[in-house]
Amino acid sequence: MSKRAVSKRLLQIPASPIRKLVPFAMAAKKRGIKVYHLNIGDPDIETPEVMLKILKKWSQNPISYSQSQGEPIFLEALKTYYNQLGFSFIETSHLQVTVGGSEAISMALLAVTEARDEIISFEPFYTNYNSYAAVNGIKIVPVLTKPGDGFHLPSVKEIEKKISRKTKAILYCNPNNPTGTVYSRKEIEMLVTIAKKNNLFLIADEVYREFVYDRKKHTSVLSYFENIPNQAILVDSLSKRYSLCGARLGVLSSLNKQIIDGVLRIAQGRLSAGLVDQIMAAKLTDVPHSYFQHVHKEYQNRRNVLYKGLQSIPGVKVPKPEGAFYCIVDLPVKDSEDSCKFLLTDFNLNGETVMFAPAQGFYATAGLGKNQVRIAYVLNTSKLKKCVKILEAGLTAYGKKK
Ligand SMILES: Cc1ncc(COP(=O)(O)O)c(C=O)c1O
Repeated sequence: MSKRAVSKRLLQIPASPIRKLVPFAMAAKKRGIKVYHLNIGDPDIETPEVMLKILKKWSQNPISYSQSQGEPIFLEALKTYYNQLGFSFIETSHLQVTVGGSEAISMALLAVTEARDEIISFEPFYTNYNSYAAVNGIKIVPVLTKPGDGFHLPSVKEIEKKISRKTKAILYCNPNNPTGTVYSRKEIEMLVTIAKKNNLFLIADEVYREFVYDRKKHTSVLSYFENIPNQAILVDSLSKRYSLCGARLGVLSSLNKQIIDGVLRIAQGRLSAGLVDQIMAAKLTDVPHSYFQHVHKEYQNRRNVLYKGLQSIPGVKVPKPEGAFYCIVDLPVKDSEDSCKFLLTDFNLNGETVMFAPAQGFYATAGLGKNQVRIAYVLNTSKLKKCVKILEAGLTAYGKKK
């Protein structure tokens, strides 16, 4: 009997470029090489102590399911967080707790698209949007942003050119992963206007909301919730804000009751997010302001050190990142995936090397990003300085090999 074929959708789901080279990194480690991981946004910053205390003192037995919408004490804490940001209209009824921002993106796409619909996103974009799109059977139509413009948004005309009868939503990330760009108020207003005029949903991924440097201001989609109440959807996460990547907690928020009621039904199907994680994270309102000041200062320093170091390497180009903890870097190579692999398989500097994410997988348009990498500055400044030296020596060695 011939083997039953698996689904086409399954086969279309791409491997994450962030994790693709992991086997080579593991092999390098086996050979005794130290590998600095600048390929993934898993910060080394400590989780707030007030949260850890909950884990250390945990006594509730058994550990039961939580509510599908979210644990009430956590929903209240989230409401307080949004209210304190200045969005006093946010009630717990506008919030759905998700298993990471990842689930919030998946739910948002499922909520607003049918199979074969299109959504617009600005490339390079967070590579995992590709997997959520493939799972949902929809197409991401890319609008290109360029390093020469600091990866800021193109004109209304350029964006509207990509809208078709199948377009259901614009999905954007601000502050941006992978470019580190922070969109201005004017840019966000442009997106709101386009969404309004073309009757599109506007999905804003704001998981890096607090990571904005040089006294720039972040403009949240929440500022426009009351302007386009049926169209705006917020995707949020606690992973980066509180160094809680492993807790797997995120939020989907909307004033559109049909969306909120619908995603609750999806949430009921998967029962609940983790109870322990939510009770721990409910302490978010007790995290001292000094924690954020420290984290913010640390990342701004890291950004400065990395930016300065990269600029000093011949042939390397990078626009100054304005937020999040990533940047897209032009390398003097033809194939960045090959050079990233070379750094792991054929090169080390005094027993150390570095891992980056090849940028091609952050683009939907074939052929783009081939000479670029995404760097996540998630290590301290002395390690980042070492990484810059390793990259510089690695590029010289790679150039000689070619
Ligand atoms: C832009 C963006 N959105 C969403 C996520 C999802 O994060 P999580 O599922 O940990 O909340 C990430 C994670 O790196 C991200 O960079």
